[in-house]
Amino acid sequence: MKALCWNGKKEVSVESVADPKILNPRDSIIKITSTAICGSDLHLYNGRVPTMKRGDILGHEFMGEVVETGKAVKNLKVGDRVVVPFPVACGNCYPCSQGKVSGCQNSNPGWMPLETLVGEPGAGMFGYSALYGSYAGGQAEYARVPYSDFGPTIVPSTLTDDQVLFLSDIFPTGYQAAEYCEIKRGDTIAVWGCGPVGQFAIRSAFMLGAERVIAVDRHPARMRLAEMAGAETVNYEDSDDLVELLKQLTGGIGPDHCIDAVGMEAHGTSVYGKLERGKQALKMQMDNATVLRQVFQSCAPGGTCSIAGVYVGFIDKFPFGSIFGKGLTVKTGQCNVHGLMKPLMERIANGDINPPEIISHRVALDDAPKMYELFEAEKDECTKVVLKP
Ligand SMILES: NC(=O)c1ccc[n+]([C@@H]2O[C@H](COP(=O)([O-])OP(=O)(O)OC[C@H]3O[C@@H](n4cnc5c(N)ncnc54)[C@H](O)[C@@H]3O)[C@@H](O)[C@H]2O)c1
Ligand SMILES: [Zn+2]
Ligand SMILES: [Zn+2]
Repeated sequence: MKALCWNGKKEVSVESVADPKILNPRDSIIKITSTAICGSDLHLYNGRVPTMKRGDILGHEFMGEVVETGKAVKNLKVGDRVVVPFPVACGNCYPCSQGKVSGCQNSNPGWMPLETLVGEPGAGMFGYSALYGSYAGGQAEYARVPYSDFGPTIVPSTLTDDQVLFLSDIFPTGYQAAEYCEIKRGDTIAVWGCGPVGQFAIRSAFMLGAERVIAVDRHPARMRLAEMAGAETVNYEDSDDLVELLKQLTGGIGPDHCIDAVGMEAHGTSVYGKLERGKQALKMQMDNATVLRQVFQSCAPGGTCSIAGVYVGFIDKFPFGSIFGKGLTVKTGQCNVHGLMKPLMERIANGDINPPEIISHRVALDDAPKMYELFEAEKDECTKVVLKP
């Protein structure tokens, strides 16, 4: 089959590789009909995640048709159309039984380095390095889906691929980020990042009752997409002091709750932003904390800071005092996708949200390398790429 392989920093190519096989009775094989490139894939593309190997197949947002099932898979049959959640989770361990699938204790055999680094390994993930279990990804013609009696959700024929594909990751991720804020009517939520995750966080915040959403980015097309959903927007490059500006926009108090939909590769033109980049480049810290610092500094006392953006390790001189001083709640982590797929599929079917409006490119798998380059470099033109293998 054809698959998109990682060959080094900023080097990906479509190659012929062996077809996946059933290895375990709970596996199934999916013929991929749609798969997307994620902001998280850019962390791999940019060489920020250790343990990637030449030839690793990328992709954790995918859906398709079941073509083969293992003996233990009773809930799926050949021909079913399914969308696959990005965390690989067993469904049996204690975190899985509590719905916290991103903490699955059985799905990540590559856990040792992560446990040494940060204390907890977390679940495996498709297409995301040996740190996350070395599972081949779904930017390919076929994929093996482990624990497929627990993960994949069957899609009715009334919904199109473009409507449901993002249930694999970014819709639940944006929704969980908003849900973590425990929004009350009248609340103002600030969202950093108008990328795909930010777009779903903005839309979810309104669905959950927010009165105002203030969205922060610098790319006009992405900011317009946020405005289409009802958000006010702020270009952080137009402001010397974003924290102060957010306070001015919220009666001097700060947004009730803040969502980071940017993560460890934040861009920043302020002195602090450049300092963060410099420290990351010099390997003095693993993550760029430009956005994290702004989130904690601007959030209103008693508010929740919901961190959907990915961070992997250590941050220099972290301002924990502002979290303590204001009594902030911090909620974060990989999304617990499984439990959100069905309720959010209902939201799509009801017309509460229209996921395809964030898609800017639909292309063949062969065009994936060009699209990685574009998604990395031209964020204004490119919001979300869907590949059709
Ligand atoms: N927690 C999870 O389960 C989960 C799942 C999916 C993605 N993610 C993470 O969410 C983050 C966003 O993903 P995406 O697909 O939307 O990525 P993306 O790269 O398309 O979008 C990020 C956006 O942030 C903006 N940005 C950069 N620096 C900024 C700053 N200083 N202030 C405000 N905006 C800034 C960029 O201009 C861009 O529009 C990534 O870190 C990704 O890894 C987490
Ligand atoms: Zn993703
Ligand atoms: Zn588990």
